[in-house]
Amino acid sequence: MNSKVTVAEICAMKSRGGKIAALTAYDFPMAKLLDEAGVPLLLVGDSLGMVVLGYPDTTHVTMAEMEHHVRAAARAKTNALLGGDLPFKSYETVSDAVVNAKKLVAAGAEFVKAEGGAEILPQVQAIIAAGIPFCGHLGMLPQHVLEEGGYKIKGKQEAEHHKLINDAKALSDAGAFAIVLELVTPPVAKEISETISAPTIGIGSGPDCDGQILVTHDLTGSFPWFTPRFVKPKANCAAEIKSAVAVWKAEMGAR
Ligand code: KIV
Repeated sequence: MNSKVTVAEICAMKSRGGKIAALTAYDFPMAKLLDEAGVPLLLVGDSLGMVVLGYPDTTHVTMAEMEHHVRAAARAKTNALLGGDLPFKSYETVSDAVVNAKKLVAAGAEFVKAEGGAEILPQVQAIIAAGIPFCGHLGMLPQHVLEEGGYKIKGKQEAEHHKLINDAKALSDAGAFAIVLELVTPPVAKEISETISAPTIGIGSGPDCDGQILVTHDLTGSFPWFTPRFVKPKANCAAEIKSAVAVWKAEMGAR
């Protein structure tokens, strides 16, 4: 990737039929490495709450933490389009949504993402009206883990299926440039991808989304204490770190 990726370019990838590769990046070196590896879409996800900050779930992540990590990743000046998550309770009102989306943009985000469909449509419309590219997030919504009592697959029940289709259409019609589908049953994810014009970026939602996103720590085996069932890590960085430390200690004659 030699030139800056734009929102229009991400959308064009859907019409060209190529798969959109997306990964999370929470800091300067990871954003730079993933950019050099040619990933066109990077997200400073609030998953950083678990894999970087040691929280039990994303509901603990604050705006200040998101701004801090977006700033760090943005310093890599990636060709990849770099976005940031609006954290838990930062977009409860339309005015909060716009103020906080602007803060992430000031920190270096080129788009923002928030979880939900019809229930946050006024916030989404206001963010887009403020000129900030918006990425939706439907299906299993990690910020709702406490009220839902766990991370559950979405789309099995007919009512869920209809809500997902309607929410995806509403977000796409409102101007969301892409929509993350997390833990959506593969047939429903396929139907959404075929129905809406915005690209869908799946995570644990089967192969038929327009792109795929993973938490980079899951892909690289950098957070060995939990790996989602749908991820097949392509490296074991945790083991590499421990083995590098063991070699170094042995070389210095440490006991
Ligand atoms: O927080 C996050 O990293 C995300 C992606 C995994 C989609 O929302």
